[in-house]
Amino acid sequence: MSWASLLRARPGMKAVLTAGVLVTTLWHLRHFLTPSEVSREASKHTKPLLVLVWEWPSKQVPNISGDVCRELYGITGCWLTMDKQLLGQADVVVFPHTRLQPGRDELPKERPPQQHWVWVSLESPSNTKGLSRWNQTFNWVMTYRRDSDIFMPYGKLVPNRSATVNIPAKTNLVSWVISNYQRTQERAKVYRNLSRHLHVNVYGRANKKPLCKDCLLATTSKSKFYLAFENSIHQDYITEKLWRNSLMAGTVPIVLGPPRANYEQFIPADSFIHVDDFASPAELASFLRTMSASRYRQFFAWQRGHSVKLYSDWAERICTICSAYPSLRRGRLYPDLQTWFGS
Ligand SMILES: *[C@@H]1O[C@H](CO)[C@@H](O)[C@H](O)[C@H]1NC(C)=O
Ligand SMILES: *[C@@H]1O[C@H](CO)[C@@H](O)[C@H](O)[C@H]1NC(C)=O
Ligand SMILES: *[C@@H]1O[C@H](CO)[C@@H](O)[C@H](O)[C@H]1NC(C)=O
Ligand SMILES: *[C@@H]1O[C@H](CO)[C@@H](O)[C@H](O)[C@H]1NC(C)=O
Repeated sequence: MSWASLLRARPGMKAVLTAGVLVTTLWHLRHFLTPSEVSREASKHTKPLLVLVWEWPSKQVPNISGDVCRELYGITGCWLTMDKQLLGQADVVVFPHTRLQPGRDELPKERPPQQHWVWVSLESPSNTKGLSRWNQTFNWVMTYRRDSDIFMPYGKLVPNRSATVNIPAKTNLVSWVISNYQRTQERAKVYRNLSRHLHVNVYGRANKKPLCKDCLLATTSKSKFYLAFENSIHQDYITEKLWRNSLMAGTVPIVLGPPRANYEQFIPADSFIHVDDFASPAELASFLRTMSASRYRQFFAWQRGHSVKLYSDWAERICTICSAYPSLRRGRLYPDLQTWFGS
């Protein structure tokens, strides 16, 4: 790539390039980018997207390098930064909902015409407050909903030719990891009803049996079934409780969340049990207790040829914006985020 095209590509640095001004424009470049960035930029064939993460989504801010998308995830053409001084040049600015302050004052005052703002949230609408403040603010949304501009599920099944059926040894029937138990939640009611008919091994902070991060899979994998109960029920809201705690652990998920048909848009119909499949907790309990070994094995058919891919790293999630960028709709703001997300 030539210097001329590099400069054309960068708003704010539109110096007319002739041999005579090369030195000046190089100075301009250095003014915006560190020397190593300048040389990286110059070596690229196309201009990378500059993605400014306004606030890091989680409390622990990692020390990422700008080139993290290529280095860790093989996604090229993406340059991440948290340096707000680069706001003027950023192609995309990322705003995680959990870090948005109540006032608009915290957001940039101006937005260059070609810059796009992304609203990011992985929480369900039940746990997302204050959305009506952000009418006419964001161009794109990145959420777990399939109709997001940038769809970011908690996990997915990916083809894997070497994957075979592999069911871990079982020592108990049903387990549940729960850190925030609230009696009135639907999942708590279903749990209480079910536990009248069979024993559920309950782990997590709510039961004073917290599991260390590395023990979780080892523990849930010992159960034949796992209560993958979502904290609230919304379209597409299917979290790591399904992907990690059950499917990745090699236990059969009993799901409580959106309707079965919605789950079937993510995973095979025969890979899970839905609480709605049964007229009562007693019937569900009886189905679980009397299941034959061969019936049980059928739930694992998906394992042949597939693996679970988790999305749990914020840098990786943000890098997918660059892959999606070319096909994203331009020039529109969400007039009313609350109504879209609440629908
Ligand atoms: C962040 O990483 C860079 C390069 O990898 C290193 O030079 C710098 O000291 C690190 N900063 C912190 C705060 O760890
Ligand atoms: C955002 O738009 C909705 C729908 O038009 C409206 O009800 C709401 O009051 C608006 N919020 C603000 C803060 O203007
Ligand atoms: C594919 O399956 C094999 C065998 O189970 C496993 O070792 C490997 O990690 C899987 N690859 C991916 C990308 O998950
Ligand atoms: C729990 O059981 C009670 C009594 O059988 C029933 O009325 C209620 O609908 C059940 N609730 C759930 C969420 O299963």
